[in-house]
Amino acid sequence: MSRTVITFGTFDVFHVGHLRVIERAAALGDRLVVGVSADELNLRKKGREPVFSQGERLAIVAALKAVDEVFVEESLELKRDYIQKYAADVLVMGDDWKGRFDEFGDICEVVYLTRTPAISTTALIEKISATS
Ligand code: CTP
Repeated sequence: MSRTVITFGTFDVFHVGHLRVIERAAALGDRLVVGVSADELNLRKKGREPVFSQGERLAIVAALKAVDEVFVEESLELKRDYIQKYAADVLVMGDDWKGRFDEFGDICEVVYLTRTPAISTTALIEKISATS
């Protein structure tokens, strides 16, 4: 039986922490589906527009060898629907979300992966703006 893994994120200013979480998520199954959060969702969640548009972020994530399918995550409230729609057996999230998605344990396995240390989109944006 083939095992489908699903994960979600903004993946703005794509960096090695993003690559590692995607590769480790893919290694947990046979097919990896990635929900890339909508621009509108980011504005609400983080209070700023992403540097790259959802179309650009989607194209970057879709081009990765480890990724089989991508879609735009329109709302944080729809996780259960997305898990069911893509028939995911495993939900993978970085451990910055630890415990927050345990409620989906009734329909899939929930795995939290350790974040890659010392890198984030926010830190990169700050570093770039400080040096320019
Ligand atoms: N991630 C990771 N290691 C990092 C940064 C992110 O494993 N150093 C993971 C997150 O845990 C998440 C996915 O990558 O599962 C997408 O995270 P995202 O929020 O898009 O990236 P961040 O760099 O954390 O962005 P920000 O600084 O804007 O919060």
